[in-house]
Amino acid sequence: MDSWIIFIILIEYLLIIKGSDDKMSTTNNWVNEAWEQVVKKIGKTSKRIGATFPHVSIDGKYNNERVGWWTAGFWPGILWLVYRETKDNDLRDIAISIEEKLDEPLYEFTGIHHDVGFMWIPSAIAHYKLLGNEESKRRGLIAASHLAGRFNTKGNFIRAWTDKVYPNGQGVAIIDCMMNLPLLYWASEETGDPRFKHIAMAHADTADREFIRKDGSVHHIVRFDPETGERIEALAGQGYAPDSAWSRGVAWAIYGMALSYRYTKEPRYLEAAKRAAHFFLANLPEDQMPYWDFRAPVEEDMAYDSSAAACAASGLLELARWVEPNETRMYEETGTRIIKSLYENYGAWDEEEEALIKKGTVNRNTNKYVNTPIIYGDYFFVEALAKLRGQKDLFW
Ligand code: GLY
Repeated sequence: MDSWIIFIILIEYLLIIKGSDDKMSTTNNWVNEAWEQVVKKIGKTSKRIGATFPHVSIDGKYNNERVGWWTAGFWPGILWLVYRETKDNDLRDIAISIEEKLDEPLYEFTGIHHDVGFMWIPSAIAHYKLLGNEESKRRGLIAASHLAGRFNTKGNFIRAWTDKVYPNGQGVAIIDCMMNLPLLYWASEETGDPRFKHIAMAHADTADREFIRKDGSVHHIVRFDPETGERIEALAGQGYAPDSAWSRGVAWAIYGMALSYRYTKEPRYLEAAKRAAHFFLANLPEDQMPYWDFRAPVEEDMAYDSSAAACAASGLLELARWVEPNETRMYEETGTRIIKSLYENYGAWDEEEEALIKKGTVNRNTNKYVNTPIIYGDYFFVEALAKLRGQKDLFW
């Protein structure tokens, strides 16, 4: 071969190698830069927030929600995610103090609902996984027993709320519960008793059949007859309509089903996670920020939901671990793209704002906290960043 041709091929080869190196280092650069911003900000805000229960940020400051609210685990979860890498004992101590305060709703018992996973996975289970604290393990097992006790054997679903929050709700189940199931999988692993896992799988099968539609869109609420277990109806819940597609509900389905696959290796859960993921991705606007409901009419002052984006992205990164090797890159890249957009376009880095990520929506139907930073948006953003830094088995 002509030496010039060999020379040109060699140069092209070197340019390709350099291109992929540059891409990798660019990726690492923004991820590490974002992580440093998170560590700096959490170090600062934790001094004011301390062992309280932030839920949404109002006028730049996180509020202090009541102790038994379902969001109570996310702040200690953020502290543990950062502690895991920095070993900052001040953050650890705040997280432990919140976990202790959570004993009040745990032992009071009557106010407790199905969201015990959201509350005790990123608090007690995180503590147990990181430092092996036996009291934290006990709290996790009590919470898991409570969740298992909400199972309706006729309808194969876990009841969602208490009567106080949702009167006559004995037959009500919601898609969010998919994220509580890992508490049951964990309890089975810890105790060697498969009962908890059986309940989780029965609920996941119901969610696959009754909540996640063929096109991957998801109902928020399905109501069953609590005596016979028959399905009665789907309800809009926090979505626009019974047949719409509340974006956070789709995110709970993506991540929840991917986690059910991780613990059981049942292909039907992987398929369900992919179905929801493809719907979510196909409906994302250019800048990766989902509307509060993908089927709500577009209005001038549209409500967005960054928490759905962050949760879906972390779920996509989970999914990437379990799909066929030729599919991994697609899920990794789409999850990464969402987090990068949240960081670059919606992060509150140079502002007088305690939260990390702007534009979350708690409930558009009741106009409760619309286009506002939310603690679980922050949590899943930090969790996804930790995954992008190579961390694998975190708290869920
Ligand atoms: N779990 C309630 C919500 O996602 O708003």
